[in-house]
Amino acid sequence: MKPTILILNGPNLNMLGSREPSIYGTETMEFIASSCTEHAGSLGLEIDFRQSNYEGELVTWIQQAGSNAAGIVINAGAYTHTSVAIRDALMAASLPVIEVHLSNIYRRESFRHTSYISGVADGVLCGFGSDGYLMALDAISRLVVNTPTTD
Ligand code: DQA
Repeated sequence: MKPTILILNGPNLNMLGSREPSIYGTETMEFIASSCTEHAGSLGLEIDFRQSNYEGELVTWIQQAGSNAAGIVINAGAYTHTSVAIRDALMAASLPVIEVHLSNIYRRESFRHTSYISGVADGVLCGFGSDGYLMALDAISRLVVNTPTTD
């Protein structure tokens, strides 16, 4: 069975395409999901691509990933800058985690410079638009492949 990567998207990312296109581009969430599906296939991975505007739902999905997924790619949107709950869930899941942002959060308002996710992520990609998701899949495929299996 191919390893499954949970790709999680937080609040307002369902609005991509029409949301502040000068910052986030014109690609929709559906387009990003289908690019990720195609790229994951070329890496021998399956993806489970999800979006929620609710913090608790994201936490529940991360908890479930602890037993269902081999790694997590997460763009937590604005919860990146506020959510101890998402950070704690990622810690508890004990899976490889790559944090992604479409925009370069360090070139924007100072409140976006703090990420509760970065401290528990294996790596962070920001500022590459939707390509960041594909780069994150490249990165996580190496971490998943390199995760020793117990026998
Ligand atoms: C974002 C950056 C966040 O600061 C913002 O709240 C988002 C999107 C990004 O992908 O650039 O919703 O995570």
